[in-house]
Amino acid sequence: MSKITLKGANLLAPLPVVMVTVGDMVQSNIITVAWTGIVCSVPPRVYISVREDRYSHALLDKTGEFVINFTTESLLAACDWCGVRSGRDHDKFAEMKLNKGKAQKVSVPLIEESPINIECRVFDKLSLGSHTMFLADVLAVDVDESVVDGDGAIDYAKCRLVDYMHGEYYAQGRHLGRFGFAAQKKYIARYGKGKDAMSSSSLTRRKRSAGRTGNISDGVKK
Ligand SMILES: Cc1cc2nc3c(=O)[nH]c(=O)nc-3n(C[C@H](O)[C@H](O)[C@H](O)COP(=O)(O)O)c2cc1C
Repeated sequence: MSKITLKGANLLAPLPVVMVTVGDMVQSNIITVAWTGIVCSVPPRVYISVREDRYSHALLDKTGEFVINFTTESLLAACDWCGVRSGRDHDKFAEMKLNKGKAQKVSVPLIEESPINIECRVFDKLSLGSHTMFLADVLAVDVDESVVDGDGAIDYAKCRLVDYMHGEYYAQGRHLGRFGFAAQKKYIARYGKGKDAMSSSSLTRRKRSAGRTGNISDGVKK
């Protein structure tokens, strides 16, 4: 491959784009966030990075709690709107006709219409430059029963989640395989190792799973 080199830039993709709720049941707000991720498996820990001038920043400082609400295709317009309007001037729950749900472990409301809500409590924050990184423990995860199958596994395919890549939103793509599939003897015997195994012909021939990607705790040690 012939490469061009760009100056250092945040071109990591794809990213989740989530609707983060902050505040409490009385004074609450929703901020759209793409700078988010898992930072530790045990204990479960995540981060969000938020600019200091956001209205939500002060609420995060005040309560030390937030909820990450997954964005579905049907929530995307609300998610985008919450990312270009400030809670200083708008009641985002009311204007987006979203319902506040009661979280189990934090005082921040969750978004009822979002199928997965991650309840978080901040344990540290870092001023990194443009953004403050809020590092948080995951205290609870609320999952809509409609996306949980009989074995208690989350069926992510049912959630119709949205990805974000540099200003553009995308629907989740095709299911390609399960964690560790490329190292399974049966798979290697049939398709070979590495990139040869992922040629488009083997992909179309390969039996696809129903889209199940994990159980409630993910089921995969990482
Ligand atoms: C797709 C998308 C992703 C965003 N990601 C972030 C982010 O990671 N951190 C951040 O501080 N702002 C992010 N923003 C901008 C805020 O959501 C936006 O400034 C919002 O209006 C702030 O709301 P607030 O003033 O009510 O807190 C994002 C906006 C969009 C549309």
